[in-house]
Amino acid sequence: MKPTRTVAAVLGASALLAAVPAALPATAAPAAERAAAAAPGGPLALRDLAPEGFRIGTAVAGGGHHVDQPYPDPFPNDRQYRRLVGQQFSSLSPENQMKWEFIHPEQGTYRFGPADEIVRFAQRHGQVVRGHTLLWHSQNPAWLEEGEFTKPQLRRILRDHIRTVVGRYKGKIQQWDVANEIFLDDGSLRTQDNIWIRELGPGIIEDAFRWAHQADPAAKLFFNDYGVESDNAKSDAYYALVQEFQAKGVPVDGFSVQAHLSTRYGFPGDLQANLQRFADLGVETAVTELDVRMDVPVGEQPTRAQQDQQADYYRQALEACLSVEGCDSFTLWGFTDKYSWVPVFFQGEGFATVMTEDFRRKPAYYAVAYRLAEAKASYPRG
Ligand code: XIL
Repeated sequence: MKPTRTVAAVLGASALLAAVPAALPATAAPAAERAAAAAPGGPLALRDLAPEGFRIGTAVAGGGHHVDQPYPDPFPNDRQYRRLVGQQFSSLSPENQMKWEFIHPEQGTYRFGPADEIVRFAQRHGQVVRGHTLLWHSQNPAWLEEGEFTKPQLRRILRDHIRTVVGRYKGKIQQWDVANEIFLDDGSLRTQDNIWIRELGPGIIEDAFRWAHQADPAAKLFFNDYGVESDNAKSDAYYALVQEFQAKGVPVDGFSVQAHLSTRYGFPGDLQANLQRFADLGVETAVTELDVRMDVPVGEQPTRAQQDQQADYYRQALEACLSVEGCDSFTLWGFTDKYSWVPVFFQGEGFATVMTEDFRRKPAYYAVAYRLAEAKASYPRG
């Protein structure tokens, strides 16, 4: 369990707690109270409810699947969305805007504008930023994946990219997902689909961490993956690699679980224990991309029972992180169904975020809000 945190943080916590409708299950909250708090832009803000030092984050929508959707680029154009990003969260993760295909679309050509905009917004709003991501098998530009490069050239391309991107945001990124999804489910390295590992061997992963550290010594450097919420073959592989890096003096600071959950598979009940074993190695942990998708027939809405089940998953994920020392960053992969990647990537599943398409707060929102406020009151951080 985490040690007791500061006393100052408790001040006002009970008032905040009282302000959160007793919405678990949502049916329990008086309708008027729920309606008032559920008004778009209403008084509740997750970031204010969170314990001191605990970052509640969201992905910032743009790029990726959004490009093919019938709406303008969300973050720059949707004012209501943007206002909620500033009001509700204390950590921002560019959903796609720092990925290779977006930020480095042509060889030697960088597109920094949208990422710059997110970082600037974060600074104006007292938010930290999680950088995402530097070494990945997916969303790489064609010039890179299809180019004819020698091994030394490829190595230089990665090094220059990391120096350039990490260097540009030096001092402004709290955590970097340096290596994303480098293992398969069976715990073997992605030697086929990850261009860097395939062409340059596993040693390139260490290099990436070293280059990132040189470019921004203050940023915390993470491994990030999906399907590692539980103690399993894949998370075991990270557990071994973290230890290997530590033994070699490679600068690794953290291990994070994406937590793209689905009610099809049940909640990963050993999440807390799994995070704890990494904490025991002396690295930070984080939940970086939480969403909870559900099966809902086309044209229908989730049932009350489904909403309550989803709220329970959100609450449990938060609970796990709050209970592990060094898990101080908890990010939702978007907060509104309006921009969720889920329906685009998982056929028949959706409604995975904490707000409806028109920004009404769901039971899952209240579950997070309530648990944050409760944690602030009883386990203040310092
Ligand atoms: C997703 C984005 O949400 C989409 O917009 C994009 O089209 C595809 O990628 N794991 C990750 C994230 O590390 O970068 C992915 O984001 C979701 C899975």
